[in-house]
Amino acid sequence: MSPEIHALIKPGVDYDLLEIAPDDLATRLPKLLTEYDGLNVTIPYKEKVQDYLSIISEEAAQVGAVNTIYGGQGFNTDLYGFKRLDFDYKGKTVLILGSGGVAKTMLYSVGSLGAAHVIMRVRDKQKTQPLVSRFVAYFPHCEISLINDDELSKWNDPIHYILNGTPLGMWPKVNCLPLDENSYLKLLESGHIEAVFDSIYNPLSTRFLLLARQKQIEAVNGLQMLFYQALEAQIIWGNVLENDVYDAKPDDLTQLLLSKFPIKLVLSGFMASGKTTIAREIAKRIKLKFIDLDFEIEQAENSSIAQIFKTSGEAYFRQKEAEVLARFMHGEESFVLATGGGTLLQAKNLECVRQNSGQIIYLDVSLNEAIRRAGDRSSRPLLQAPDEVIKELYEARQEKYHAIADCVINADLTPARVVDSILNLFLLG
Ligand code: S3P
Repeated sequence: MSPEIHALIKPGVDYDLLEIAPDDLATRLPKLLTEYDGLNVTIPYKEKVQDYLSIISEEAAQVGAVNTIYGGQGFNTDLYGFKRLDFDYKGKTVLILGSGGVAKTMLYSVGSLGAAHVIMRVRDKQKTQPLVSRFVAYFPHCEISLINDDELSKWNDPIHYILNGTPLGMWPKVNCLPLDENSYLKLLESGHIEAVFDSIYNPLSTRFLLLARQKQIEAVNGLQMLFYQALEAQIIWGNVLENDVYDAKPDDLTQLLLSKFPIKLVLSGFMASGKTTIAREIAKRIKLKFIDLDFEIEQAENSSIAQIFKTSGEAYFRQKEAEVLARFMHGEESFVLATGGGTLLQAKNLECVRQNSGQIIYLDVSLNEAIRRAGDRSSRPLLQAPDEVIKELYEARQEKYHAIADCVINADLTPARVVDSILNLFLLG
């Protein structure tokens, strides 16, 4: 995405992407240093590139990574991108997930911004220990602890910020969390968390961020860091002045991301919870394809849902439902898809959605409201039953809907408000 981001910050700028094989670095880099005014360096060369530079900024040297070069000098603008987050770490406890390059940048930044205690959740403590010993010397006021998942699950002292520096939750594995779900929920419910940050920006709202936002906790994605590290590189290269007024802002990258990477929003919920209406409106608002699963089944079978149930039975309907769902989920295209009320309660359908990067939004409607909206119920075979039977079905499904959802939305509200809450939650508004 870098060429597009730089073009957004500084229209007309020339920014080429060059791939260099590890064996060619020693011969190609010195030439590039003379051919180009400025360079960005990315994984896996942020450390190695230091060997070819005569001067390295103090911060970049201390972090041990360079991502921007100008006039033979090395800088680290990732640090700047991360520091632009509006978080006040002074005297606070920060949990960093991961121990790779991003986590290292986070550790250095929060240490220099006055955190009292940084807890790093790592897989291999021994491997990370040398890094900690080195950083402790730069920030003597800051205690640094290394813990594993098990220790995190038993952690009881206040933690104020959680920063994800791992790639867990990144497309296509959007259902992954970077830490154990129960440990995370316990922290989010502790009353101490002030904000969480995810270095991931694809998807824009990871499951990690959605869980926090639903608990009214500030949850920031990696777009800001991405945007500001590029802006700082342009300042270093002299293309943009520090005090320039920029029209561009991190949110401008949202459309760019949507055009480059797929997003698959899957709406679930009881019959008449509003799945079709809401999915259609969201698709319209963010200009994505809208899919109504029941409609697609009717098209494929050339028959109404009620008729399919009547002539071929529910088992046949479920089979067709699974086939049509799989067809869409396996595609590469972005969409907003309205499922049928029973679709995701079938294990294989849920698996298919999860395996293919669907993000599940549960429209939580009350039974009374669903029945009111369903009107004469004639088009819904499963609603052709006495109220007690429908109530039983509703109650049996409630718990499952909650358990499988990435986020839960109050669907008793008007469609316009439901649409707004979803777009706000996903930062797509
Ligand atoms: C069903 C819900 C219906 C339809 C079919 C089965 C269910 O869709 O797929 O009648 O099992 O809940 P809606 O939820 O759109 O009514």
